[in-house]
Amino acid sequence: MAEQDLQDRVALITGASRGIGRAIAEEYAARGCAVALAARTPDAIQQVADGINADGGRAVAFAADVTEEGAAERLVTETVAALGKLDILVNNAGGNSFSVPVAAMRLSGWSKTMGLNVEANVRLIQQALPHLVESDHGVIINVGSVAGLRGAPLMAHYGAAKAAIASLTRSLAVEVAHQGVRVNALVPGWIETDLTDFLRGDDATEQSVLSRVPMARWGRSEEIAQAAVFLASDASSFMTGQELIVDGGLSAMP
Ligand SMILES: NC(=O)c1ccc[n+]([C@@H]2O[C@H](COP(=O)([O-])OP(=O)(O)OC[C@H]3O[C@@H](n4cnc5c(N)ncnc54)[C@H](OP(=O)(O)O)[C@@H]3O)[C@@H](O)[C@H]2O)c1
Repeated sequence: MAEQDLQDRVALITGASRGIGRAIAEEYAARGCAVALAARTPDAIQQVADGINADGGRAVAFAADVTEEGAAERLVTETVAALGKLDILVNNAGGNSFSVPVAAMRLSGWSKTMGLNVEANVRLIQQALPHLVESDHGVIINVGSVAGLRGAPLMAHYGAAKAAIASLTRSLAVEVAHQGVRVNALVPGWIETDLTDFLRGDDATEQSVLSRVPMARWGRSEEIAQAAVFLASDASSFMTGQELIVDGGLSAMP
């Protein structure tokens, strides 16, 4: 078995109906991993699972809002019931739906952002851990963002949530290392997905985003998926508690 194969492993991937999560799901499945997919929109998540199954992979779809009480328990239980075990948890569902200065931010907006980007992941981690400990290849991948590496003016809520992901990843990695579970954060830069559509509306905005990226282009979801394969597979077998930044050089800028 090549080190980057995921043959006979089982992954639960949240936010897998489009964008980065979908690319991860399809790449894992292509490498022999059975995948459980979650997102809120039933038709969309089922369609991704159908596509994977039609291509010879193994996928099951669950319509779930990861911020809802009980969703994490249901997702993990149903994944294990459908696919027999759980080796890999990819906490990818996340994002940001507003921009506002801290001075004007409603705390409900702050809490909603933390609820989706941090709390939902903690709940999934708690439910998944007993199964990951049983696996010989237990892995957690938390999706962060370059917004969490530095200041994120007008998106302090999102930046703080993603910075929390990095810290959570380090703490958890230390706590569970002796149980054989590896925990890393995957940190994308600007990737062309629905989440960043609003930045492609006019040329000036898009140019101002890309002018800060040394590679001067949007990243593709498939490029993040390759890094997610590395983190899930034995190719990264001695790596835990780290952030893997895939950003076209953005964070290397002086
Ligand atoms: N795109 C970027 O430039 C970028 C950069 C850095 C980090 N990231 C991070 O990468 C991750 C994926 O981003 P993306 O760009 O692929 O986003 P996206 O295209 O907006 O896709 C988000 C996915 O998450 C699902 N989702 C959203 N809220 C959910 C909820 N409450 N419960 C369950 N599923 C939910 C969506 O499906 P439904 O709407 O059907 O639920 C969809 O499948 C996020 O954590 C994001 O913060 C993205």
